[in-house]
Amino acid sequence: MTERDSVLWVHAHPDETSLGHALVRSGVSRLREAGTRVAVSDLYAMNWNPVLSDADFGTATGGTLSERQKHAATTGRLAEDIRREQDALRAARHLVVSFPLWWYGMPAILKGWFDRVFTAGFAFGVRDEQGRVRRYGDGGLAGRTMLVVVTAGDRATALGPRGISGAIDHVLWPLLHGTAFYTGMRVLRPHLVASADLLDRATFPDEEKRLRDRLDRMNSETAIAYRPLRGGDYDGEHVLLDHVRPGEYGPDVHAVAQGAIRTTATGPASACVRSRGVQRQQHGQCSGAQDQAQ
Ligand SMILES: Cc1cc2nc3c(=O)[nH]c(=O)nc-3n(C[C@H](O)[C@H](O)[C@H](O)COP(=O)(O)O)c2cc1C
Repeated sequence: MTERDSVLWVHAHPDETSLGHALVRSGVSRLREAGTRVAVSDLYAMNWNPVLSDADFGTATGGTLSERQKHAATTGRLAEDIRREQDALRAARHLVVSFPLWWYGMPAILKGWFDRVFTAGFAFGVRDEQGRVRRYGDGGLAGRTMLVVVTAGDRATALGPRGISGAIDHVLWPLLHGTAFYTGMRVLRPHLVASADLLDRATFPDEEKRLRDRLDRMNSETAIAYRPLRGGDYDGEHVLLDHVRPGEYGPDVHAVAQGAIRTTATGPASACVRSRGVQRQQHGQCSGAQDQAQ
């Protein structure tokens, strides 16, 4: 990262003594040391209101909630707290989102940040010059990159490709694909800190370094190769064409690289390590010391 870069870091954790908080403090100072502009939205500290309601839209009109939301977004009538977050996002080239994994997902306060900030007319529901809705690989947030930093109680193997919890990129599919990719962002592999409750002072420096290295490389890192809606792989009903991964289904078929790197978790079980040779040659997905170290 350089001094020309700008980051909005959205963090959701109620406990300032948590590992998650410590990693955010460390990551933010690393970015600032590099001269990167960083805005932090610490949702608990801000007492963020996570509940989307018509109160968000002021005097905007429209038959459906999405229409009122879009009208409000495009006429400057959104609630002030939402406008502030949207301005921060407009000014940012990268979005970092950090949270503890709670019941296979993000804390409700963070879900409510996406619900309220990623509005129609801003993040989604925007049209291209031909009048087509821009989505899945294009959208209101095109040009930005998102990195998810997630701590989890589970061990890395359980959140790996054949682990009982499901691979972390599947667990986070609604956020990675349904939210970030849908709105046009480049999506980096999630940065998973597994067995987070067991980490102690002795291992913290390793985790700190692992995150700092990741942040340093946000510009150059290859994004998950999700297939764009208009890249020629889908039909008019948004279904993969018959010849694309025939007979298969599930999140992986929507990425070009089979078994694309799932995560940068600690522990040995990353898909990248296992099939590194093949992937590196075919897709350039697994190059870099970080991948090999996991
Ligand atoms: C309400 C709640 C739900 C949780 N659900 C999960 C879960 O689905 N998967 C998991 O691996 N860990 C789960 N955990 C464990 C947390 O992810 C873990 O304690 C946390 O990431 C540790 O990091 P921290 O010190 O930053 O909080 C849950 C914890 C809580 C409090």
